[in-house]
Amino acid sequence: MMNPDKNFWKGLSRPVMSLAPMEDVTDTAFRELVMRISNSEHLDVLFTEFTSTDGLCHEVGRENVIKRFRISDSERHWLDKTNTKIVAQIWGTDPEKFYRSAKYITEEMDFDGIDINMGCPVKKIVKNGGCSALINTPELAKELVLATMEGTDLPVTVKTRTGIKKHHTETWISDLLETKPAAITLHGRTQKDMSEAPADWAEVGKAAVIRKEKNPETLIFGNGDILSIAQANEKVQQYNIDGVMIGRGVFHNPWVFNPGYEPSLSERLDTLILHTRLFDDYWQDQRNFAVLRRFYKIYVQGFSGASKLRAALMQTQNSEEVKEVIEEFRKEYFKESNITLF
Ligand SMILES: Cc1cc2nc3c(=O)[nH]c(=O)nc-3n(C[C@H](O)[C@H](O)[C@H](O)COP(=O)(O)O)c2cc1C
Repeated sequence: MMNPDKNFWKGLSRPVMSLAPMEDVTDTAFRELVMRISNSEHLDVLFTEFTSTDGLCHEVGRENVIKRFRISDSERHWLDKTNTKIVAQIWGTDPEKFYRSAKYITEEMDFDGIDINMGCPVKKIVKNGGCSALINTPELAKELVLATMEGTDLPVTVKTRTGIKKHHTETWISDLLETKPAAITLHGRTQKDMSEAPADWAEVGKAAVIRKEKNPETLIFGNGDILSIAQANEKVQQYNIDGVMIGRGVFHNPWVFNPGYEPSLSERLDTLILHTRLFDDYWQDQRNFAVLRRFYKIYVQGFSGASKLRAALMQTQNSEEVKEVIEEFRKEYFKESNITLF
């Protein structure tokens, strides 16, 4: 059961801003990178990628999934330095496995909290009743939250959507609130919406109202389509919520948690090199380097020669090659545009 002294959520100043859990994105390298380039006043909490409780409870399977929970020494350094909290996200359908996973995370790892994924809409996952499918089985969903709480003294939170085909925010959030989670993050879309229709923030507002009636202790965070801290602050005011979680906004602008900061082209390129180096140094052969490709267009866009540089980066296999390609480009670009670096 939760130790109230460990409920860090209560001690955070509002509004609470967090980086959303994203599979193949928010690994230890990316989380460190985001911390390094953010203003820590605007980034309070990080989440891991979602991790299977079936995997965590399986002797062999655990080896495969546990890398999602790795925190490198240098990430730990930045977490401590910036006082940023880190939460492990789990998913599954078996209360016993949630209990055992929560115990394992608490006893063997170094997280500040545990979050339960009740939002992922991906077919192969929901067909077995996990993640957003739990919106259809609220009794099981509640059992999972309570089993997790049994297994840990860390604060337990839930991340979810508003319904399956239609919004059922009132009933669904009321059900969840019965378990008294430390916080609920509501993505303002149904399972059916996937990521397509715009997020409906009025539903997030409804959750905040219900929370007031049913369990004022639970914090409510909104999620969906937020691209800046200014926009997040507007939502906090408008819907009376405790904070906002930002996901894809970090693809539009990796400096999203550093409002007002405008990195130079040279700094963008340096950041890309740093990102690939953190990834490569930490994972070596344990993760596919190709997952970094989605980031190239984030850093490399909006200047002449960007598409050619991206194409060259697509061919790279490790951080050394990335560095070489960028250095080569830099020489040409700054010669042509007659800009002196440093
Ligand atoms: C590439 C990608 C991976 C994601 N993986 C997870 C995940 O592991 N756990 C989770 O709860 N949500 C996951 N999500 C959903 C996001 O956390 C977030 O709820 C969603 O993207 C909406 O927020 P946004 O509009 O700010 O991106 C993922 C989203 C993306 C784009």
